[in-house]
Amino acid sequence: MPNEQSNIVGHHYVQPNLRKNGAIMSNWTRICTLEDIPRQGSRVVESDSGRIALFRTHDNEVFALADRCPHKGGPLSQGIVCGCKVTCPLHNWNIHLADGKAIAPDEGQTATYPVKLEGGAVFIQL
Ligand code: FES
Repeated sequence: MPNEQSNIVGHHYVQPNLRKNGAIMSNWTRICTLEDIPRQGSRVVESDSGRIALFRTHDNEVFALADRCPHKGGPLSQGIVCGCKVTCPLHNWNIHLADGKAIAPDEGQTATYPVKLEGGAVFIQL
């Protein structure tokens, strides 16, 4: 279930705090609980800096990446999570969740955001 600080539009979380006064907040922002992110799946946060995909691995690690493949901008949040990588749904590039880098022979990198888990809640830092 979503927490009381987030609104849900479809399967996307919209975090009002990220847009406060039109400015990007620089401190940690609580997004949801770990359980709100499907294991080996993702959730999307809409922010002023664009869509951010939160990924949860089988081992309950959480990573935050721009929801934009470094190849041609495919929606990584709709890809398949396997281990600590996600496969882009458009042309099957594999992207490391930890650093956003494409796995060789492909080249490129998508932005990543710091994530922390506290008391079962997921926070990201912009
Ligand atoms: S857009 Fe992701 S592999 Fe082409």
